[in-house]
Amino acid sequence: MNRMFGAVIAVSALGVAAGATATAGPVEDRQELMKSVGKSIKLSVQMVKGEIPYDAAAAAAAMQTINGVPGRFEKLFPAGSDLHPKTAAARKIWEDMKGFLAKSADMKAASAKAKIAAGQGQAAFKAAIFGSVLKTCKACHDAYRIKRN
Ligand code: HEC
Repeated sequence: MNRMFGAVIAVSALGVAAGATATAGPVEDRQELMKSVGKSIKLSVQMVKGEIPYDAAAAAAAMQTINGVPGRFEKLFPAGSDLHPKTAAARKIWEDMKGFLAKSADMKAASAKAKIAAGQGQAAFKAAIFGSVLKTCKACHDAYRIKRN
């Protein structure tokens, strides 16, 4: 009886361990979201520079992807996650959460406008990307992201 009980405990402990490795934590999740933002921007810049043909639907979809990030991203900064060995998030996020959230809202607003601009053609989209969306990346990164080599 005792042995059986022990075996059940051992198996469930394994289950927990397997679950823990399969599920990414908030740091990995927020980095994944930022990677999707990075990919969307890369595609957009390639299109406005004429490196690949301009595609209004793809441009709008890229802005939609970015627009969906802030609501999820903002929830992935639990206290203490600045201490994660792989994070580039600066301590300032936790010291000034209000300012950080404002930068996040700026990106959301800029991407919504750029999505509309995407339907107005390459020139309008280019103006939205260089004139506003990319500025919101830099504004947040400069203040709230640690520079790493
Ligand atoms: C509200 C703040 C904020 C905005 C706006 C923002 N970022 Fe970030 N970004 C961060 C933070 C914080 C990190 C570091 C996350 C971590 O390592 O925990 C990051 C990391 C990244 C990374 C690295 C992801 C990785 O591989 O770990 C990329 C790429 C990136 N951002 C691209 C962008 C682009 C492009 C934009 C603009 C369209 C943008 N970001 C806008 C805060 C922001």
